Amino acid sequence: MIRKKVIAGNWKMNKTAADGVALTKDIVAEIGRETGVDVVVCPPFTALESVAHVLEGQAIKLGAQNMHPEKNGAYTGEVSAEMLRTLYVTHVILGHSERRAYFAETDAFINKKVLSALANQLKPILCVGETLAERESGTTLAVVQRQVEGGLQGVTPEQLTSVIIAYEPVWAIGTGKVATTEQAQEVHAYIRDLLTKLYGAALAQKVRILYGGSMKPSNAVELLAQKDIDGGLIGGAALEARSFVELVKAAGAAK
Ligand code: PGA
Repeated sequence: MIRKKVIAGNWKMNKTAADGVALTKDIVAEIGRETGVDVVVCPPFTALESVAHVLEGQAIKLGAQNMHPEKNGAYTGEVSAEMLRTLYVTHVILGHSERRAYFAETDAFINKKVLSALANQLKPILCVGETLAERESGTTLAVVQRQVEGGLQGVTPEQLTSVIIAYEPVWAIGTGKVATTEQAQEVHAYIRDLLTKLYGAALAQKVRILYGGSMKPSNAVELLAQKDIDGGLIGGAALEARSFVELVKAAGAAK
């Protein structure tokens, strides 16, 4: 089964609209119509509309970094799936470890967002991953299982292939400490086994599982060569066109 690789850039709270437009133009100039890889850029809310204009007619997709599960209402500071859709957003990162840690997001709340995103034709990039303490206490797989099962509650088999899962060990995010290929592949394979139990092998083989956590051109080739690693969710290295484009090229060259 050949799964199309995905390279998604998570800009986090970086880039004004003008900076985001400049970065996106540089990326488009290099890989605008590249179709061998699904490329997604995820700017902050305030840059989505400007970046959407740059992406018009291009193969690169636009993602948001978060959303609220409700359609509208008294949720000060929040944005709904429907609002994102009007800005030509196609993907949304959900359950990122920074949201879990700093904004107390639970699996149940993230699950509501996943269901709302899917109901609005947005593709969720569901993030899971253990902290250093959890890895050291030997609970990595149990934590990942809880997050995957919790996040996917109520997702139908028809919807599953619209979901992208990102395995991001929290201790590797923004720290320069990348998981070894063996550590990453072990968890990716575990997630795919879990999906097989939940949805059957045929569907599980279609789901893209990305690695995230200090991925950069120098370590991407080895990670992307692993059987169950289908791309990357990139933070730091997505803030600069050159490294992001190199990652897209590495994904395009990976078997
Ligand atoms: P990083 O971030 O590449 O800077 O480690 C990845 C992420 O948090 O998605």
